[in-house]
Amino acid sequence: MKKILVTGGLGFIGSHTVVELQNEGFEVVIIDDLSNTSIGVLDKITEITGIKPDFHQIDLRVKSEVKNFFENNKVDGIIHFAAFKAVGESMHKPLDYYENNLGTLVYLLQEMRDRKLDNFIFSSSCTVYGQADELPITEKAPVKTAESVYGNTKQIGEEILRDASKAHDLNIIALRYFNPIGAHPTVKIGELPLGVPQNLIPFVTQTAAGMRKELSVFGDDYDTQDGTAIRDYIHVVDLAKAHIAALKRLISKRNKQNFEFFNVGSGTGSSVLEVIKAFEKASGKPLNYKIVGRREGDITAAFADTTIANKELNWKTEKSLDEALESAWKWQQAQN
Ligand code: UD1
Repeated sequence: MKKILVTGGLGFIGSHTVVELQNEGFEVVIIDDLSNTSIGVLDKITEITGIKPDFHQIDLRVKSEVKNFFENNKVDGIIHFAAFKAVGESMHKPLDYYENNLGTLVYLLQEMRDRKLDNFIFSSSCTVYGQADELPITEKAPVKTAESVYGNTKQIGEEILRDASKAHDLNIIALRYFNPIGAHPTVKIGELPLGVPQNLIPFVTQTAAGMRKELSVFGDDYDTQDGTAIRDYIHVVDLAKAHIAALKRLISKRNKQNFEFFNVGSGTGSSVLEVIKAFEKASGKPLNYKIVGRREGDITAAFADTTIANKELNWKTEKSLDEALESAWKWQQAQN
């Protein structure tokens, strides 16, 4: 049985990926510092799969603890989710973001090099494309100057991985996520935003639940069919499964280069107003919203061309936007 380390394994995408790993027969060991989640998620994972993953509460910024972990645990692969992810906050705390998102990445890669470990999956983001010149976005689209410190940590992270993979013969895949949403069908795990949500879907579900007065739609003067911005929303379970596909590619040595990257989206673009309509249908509730000005740093449209990911990873999405919104709504109701 292959043993996989999942850093940030109690977070939103991490927890869903742990479940899929266990479903596929992998043994999972989780590292999480609990800075943006709770230990209760470990029990929920156990309830879903019937298997309690090995868990270590470790802050990856503490190099001695990272070393100590690897001294005592031999792993066949690493899926690295642990990172800060708030775009706005990253502009005020650049050094914290660089330390946490890049320092820890270097520590993990050093351990891999020193202990001859291999197979690494990195959480990257479609933010590396900025406003792409062509839609849908293929992997050939150029990486554009990052608009945020958060985005820059993903770009630099990929550069670190490319260099390390070449110099140390490591096999690495970066998955460039589009917009992950939804929750597990068991309604036991989902997104747990701290404070006022910055992302669209948690804000929508909290508004429908009466926790927020109304949703502000950021701009209706974009050059799109209804004037609101377009994104590619992917069900978190589909996204989790892409990690298993990528891991299997590395383990079975089917990768074509040491460092590869793939778009992981649904391939469909939806405007904010389309999402609102779909949510109203999924929840059976009208949503209170108003149009306000654009949000700084937002782009007009981004959605993935997933042809290469579908073919190379032998993976495709199975869930619709409606299913994703329905699961997000069920999850929200379960929280109240
Ligand atoms: C953001 C980040 C991205 C990150 C992703 C996941 C930016 C510029 N990008 O993506 O790097 O990987 O989150 O954390 O911040 N919207 C509203 N009202 C709201 C919230 C959002 O109208 O209250 C709109 C936004 O303007 C956007 C769409 O909904 O058009 C999606 O927004 P969001 O969920 O924040 O994701 P992104 O901005 O695409």
